[in-house]
This record gives sequence, C-alpha cells and structure tokens, in this order.
Amino acid sequence: MKNLLVTGGAGFIGVNFIRYLLEESDYEGRIINLDKLTYAGNPESLCDIETNYADRYVFVKADIVDRDSLSVIFDKYEIDGICHFAAESHVDRSIASPDEFINTNIIGTYNLLELSRERGGRIKQFHHISTDEVFGSLEEEKYFTELTSYKPNSPYSASKASSDHLVRAYFKTYELPITISNCSNNYGPFQFPEKLIPLMILNTLEDKALPVYGDGLNIRDWLYVRDHCTAIWTIMDKGRIGETYNIGGRNEMENIKVVEMICDYLDVIVGTRPNREKRRSLISFVTDRPGHDRRYAIDSTKINNELGWKPVESFETGLLKTIKWYLDNEEWVENVRSGEYLDWIKAHYS
Ligand code: NAD
Ligand code: TYD
Repeated sequence: MKNLLVTGGAGFIGVNFIRYLLEESDYEGRIINLDKLTYAGNPESLCDIETNYADRYVFVKADIVDRDSLSVIFDKYEIDGICHFAAESHVDRSIASPDEFINTNIIGTYNLLELSRERGGRIKQFHHISTDEVFGSLEEEKYFTELTSYKPNSPYSASKASSDHLVRAYFKTYELPITISNCSNNYGPFQFPEKLIPLMILNTLEDKALPVYGDGLNIRDWLYVRDHCTAIWTIMDKGRIGETYNIGGRNEMENIKVVEMICDYLDVIVGTRPNREKRRSLISFVTDRPGHDRRYAIDSTKINNELGWKPVESFETGLLKTIKWYLDNEEWVENVRSGEYLDWIKAHYS
C-alpha cells in the first residue's frame, strides 16, 4: 500500500493510529486523513504531524456519506488501501438521536465499499474498525469470540453491526480484500471528554459531580489506545484477508471501580478536594442508560496465537499515562470543551 485512506483520522483512535503509523511503525507510504470534522473530530490534534510529515500526510475535509466527493478523493490521491474509523461513536448520543448513526455508520461504510468495488483490484486492503458492542451483553464467565453471534442493543451498536455485515458481504460476494476488527473500550490521549474515563478525569479536576449510571456495576474490558493501534497495524500487515479479529485487553472492570481509581490517583497526584475531602465523594449515581449492556469481555486468543499480538499496558499503567496526558494538555481540553459539546452536556445532564 502506498496511499492509505484513513477515514475519521481526526477522532480519538484515528489520531492515535496516524501518529503510531508515522512515528513508530514500518509503514512507509502516504496517509490521506479524510474526516468530516463533527464535534468529535479535531484536526488540531495532528498539527505537528502536518508539519513534520508534510510529504507523507495530507488532511481532507469530507463526509463519507457524500459519495461523489469521495469518488474524486479516491482518484485524486490514488487510494490503494483503506483503514475505516469514521463513525458516530457515542452510545448516549445514538439513544437521543440515531439519524447520524444510520447515515454515517451504515450508508457511509456502504459508499466506501462501493467505491472500492468499482475500482477493481486497485484497493489492496479495506480494514474496517468495529466494536465488541455488536455482540450485545455478556453473562458472567463468558467471553466474546469471533464466533459469537451478533445481538446489538443500542442504535450505535446496531449501526456498527450493519456495517460489519456489509463489509463481510463484500468479501464473500465481490472478493473485496477486507479485514475486520472488533475491539473493546479504548482509553488514552485525545479521547473526547464525553466518554467515561476522560469525563471523570476532567470533572474531578473541576470538582464537579461524577455521574455513574445505574448501580455502577456494569463491566467494560479496557484497552489502552496505543495497544489497539498496534493490533490494527498487525492485522493490516499480517492478518488473513476475509477474517475478523477480536481485540481486547483482559482488563475487565466495573465502572464504579474505574471511577474510584481515577479519584484515588488524582488525590495523590494533585491533592484532595477542599477540606481534605476525598475525590470519591464527588461520585453521584444517576438514572441508568436505557438498554445498558451489563458486561463486555473479549477473548483475544485468535490475534494472540495467529499474529502474535499482545497488549503492552496494564490498566494501572495506561490509566496513569492517560491522567498525565490530560493534566499536561489543558489547552487541547479547553479547545474541545466548547460549542456544541457543552450544549449537549447541558441538555443531557441538567
Ligand atoms: P470518535 O467519535 O472520537 O471519532 C470519530 C471520527 O469520525 C471524528 O473525527 C469524526 O469527525 C469522524 N466522522 C464522523 N462522521 C463522519 C462522516 N460522516 N464522514 C467523515 N468523518 C466522520 O470515535 P473513536 O472513538 O475514535 O472511534 C473510531 C472508530 O473505532 C469507530 O468506528 C468506533 O466505532 C470504533 N471503536 C471505538 C471504540 C472506543 O472505545 N472508542 C472501541 C471499539 C471500536
Ligand atoms: P462509554 O465511555 O460511553 O463507552 P460505551 O458506552 O461505548 O461502553 O461508557 C463506558 C461505561 O461507563 C458504560 O457502561 C456507561 C458508563 N458511563 C457512566 O456510568 N457515566 C457516564 O457519564 C458515562 C459517559 C458512561
């Protein structure tokens, strides 16, 4: 691959992936970062990359729902590989307003597949980024494998499940060289502060309430974002065409434990609240999310055994790195915490 199209490269995982590819991996080609710049996309996160890799990196503002513009971009940049991150990604938003999830996640993916199909053998690989949420909610002791059947419960996960099926169908029907990865919850630098971990870090720093949904006992399997990026590149480099790989960290945690850990780390790193009150006292249990999945947990045996991938960070080391990143990057935080995001938070939590 010489001209890799990364969709959604101004979002959380896309930014980390582009940094990883250019700064750390053995990829030698060019990256075309295509992003609509919704509330979740922030091209400022890559402004140093734009300068330092001017010959290998280009940003293009475009919407994957607009097939005509996409078609021009495919040809102008001689796209021969795709890593598809672009999506509406927040479950709570999908519950409040599913339209954009259907448009971007399903129609947008379909457009990319059709344009790839039209170009015959020119596309060497189409890697589709998906989530473990397509499998639904797990009972205790079980794990999601690549053979687990799909049972999505939110408009977000249903739209991602639809896109996964389309991608797979284009392999079976048209022999488009696809790979798919289904990953557990990510955390790390550049994550938009509507998701659990950055929201809790920033709220506690501002001495605001920490809203934990329901009883706080829902379990997520947390993976540090750089580990997700190394897994994606491993699949693109060595994975078998037509295959799906699950990616997870074997880091199952109840939400309440995650929030308590953040509070305890910040008590030590920056000090307790006024009057020496522990930050845990900010925790506030709020009405549960409708259709809230109880537990996610990934079995990564396939990618471990077949491709030799393993995560590097434990939850403790990854969380400390993440907290430090948010403390060191106040300006980035200020820039994203404005406009539509604040309005939405107000409407959602007030
Ligand atoms: P994000 O919301 O931070 O970023 C999404 C990016 O896509 C943004 O830059 C946004 O501007 C862009 N985008 C949205 N609609 C678009 C459109 N119509 N055209 C072009 N660009 C558009 O999301 P993220 O957390 O970085 O997730 C990236 C991908 O990884 C998604 O496909 C998501 O489903 C998947 N995923 C995320 C997680 C997680 O924990 N964050 C876990 C597993 C899988
Ligand atoms: P989130 O980061 O939105 O990811 P996802 O819904 O894709 O798993 O949420 C992670 C977990 O944290 C999920 O069980 C919902 C819960 N949660 C809260 O308890 N409070 C919050 O304010 C948020 C955003 C999430």
